[in-house]
Amino acid sequence: MDVITAKGLVKVYRSRKSEVRALDGLDLTVEEGTVLGLLGPNGAGKTTTVRILATLMRPDAGSATIAGYDLLHEAQRIRSIIGLSGQYAAVDENLTGRENLVMFGRLYGLPSEVARRRADDLLGQFDLEDAASRTVKTYSGGMRRRLDLASAIIIRPRLLFLDEPTTGLDPRSRLSMWEIIRDLIGEGATLLLTTQYLEEADALADSIAVVDHGKIIARGTADELKSRIGGERVEVVLTNNVDLARAAVAIRRHGEQVAVDEAACRLTIPTSDGVPTLLRIGRELDELRVPVVDIGIHRPTLDDVFLVLTGHAAAPTFEDPAAGAAAEERTGARGR
Ligand SMILES: Nc1ncnc2c1ncn2[C@@H]1O[C@H](COP(=O)(O)OP(=O)(O)OP(=O)(O)O)[C@@H](O)[C@H]1O
Ligand SMILES: [Mg+2]
Repeated sequence: MDVITAKGLVKVYRSRKSEVRALDGLDLTVEEGTVLGLLGPNGAGKTTTVRILATLMRPDAGSATIAGYDLLHEAQRIRSIIGLSGQYAAVDENLTGRENLVMFGRLYGLPSEVARRRADDLLGQFDLEDAASRTVKTYSGGMRRRLDLASAIIIRPRLLFLDEPTTGLDPRSRLSMWEIIRDLIGEGATLLLTTQYLEEADALADSIAVVDHGKIIARGTADELKSRIGGERVEVVLTNNVDLARAAVAIRRHGEQVAVDEAACRLTIPTSDGVPTLLRIGRELDELRVPVVDIGIHRPTLDDVFLVLTGHAAAPTFEDPAAGAAAEERTGARGR
């Protein structure tokens, strides 16, 4: 059964000066008990999609059902079964971690005794016990994110929306967030997760929907998306171009296709069987006495997929926070 079915969602943000078509006929389905990764660059329309499906905002056109309830007419019912952790944490800075969770529990209608017990369980589960009595003002970014996620699941929602749950976290906090999310998945919740990190969708999602300019431009598992742009290849890096030419000739003689990249001093050989090809080429280069700097099998990454699908690169990499700003600018430059 599909927990989410959305058809033709359109959202236009209007101001006196401009009009931004954030969603432009977006269709989406998410099957019960699965994790959908909504993947796209800055400005693609991820947050807008989440806010609409979580009933925080109405679409200008289109329709959707959430767990069978109509998005436009049964918003109240939908709110009672979903949890949302937004792109920017919604917790109250001036309350402690525990007070925040109890407050959210009470807002969702839990009796205070139950809310307190649930808060304590979650503080333990999210490794926030030591900080539970401190105001959130004193929390690090990663702690806020964890608290925000804890507040989103206080009522054990059937459907959980996580909007960029790991953006801004350092690599270690990101991994620990992934563990937490995996635990939630293990408990059987349906999850819609947005991310600009291809790696994250790959790691957590059963199915990936790639969104760009307010539309879904591709849908499939990580492997399906990758296979759309071709299979594996063996890449060999040598020390100089004389060897490169000799090696290319020798490998071609055995009937393999070889692409030569002189600037990178690299040969690329498409392969359907992977390791045997790698070993054969390795032996051949050894017989030629060509020094090899690097040799390996490369599978297409989701970055490659994005580039092929959209004609532009996807996202800043984990290691390079500055690239985030560049991506913003790129988005701006597209006039969105
Ligand atoms: N309140 C708003 N008023 C005007 N334009 C908006 C508003 N919110 C979003 N937009 C625009 O709508 C488009 C989609 O925005 P959205 O926040 O959904 O993207 P996103 O995929 O979540 O991006 P990011 O990865 O940066 O969070 C962008 O061009 C954005 O500038
Ligand atoms: Mg967003």
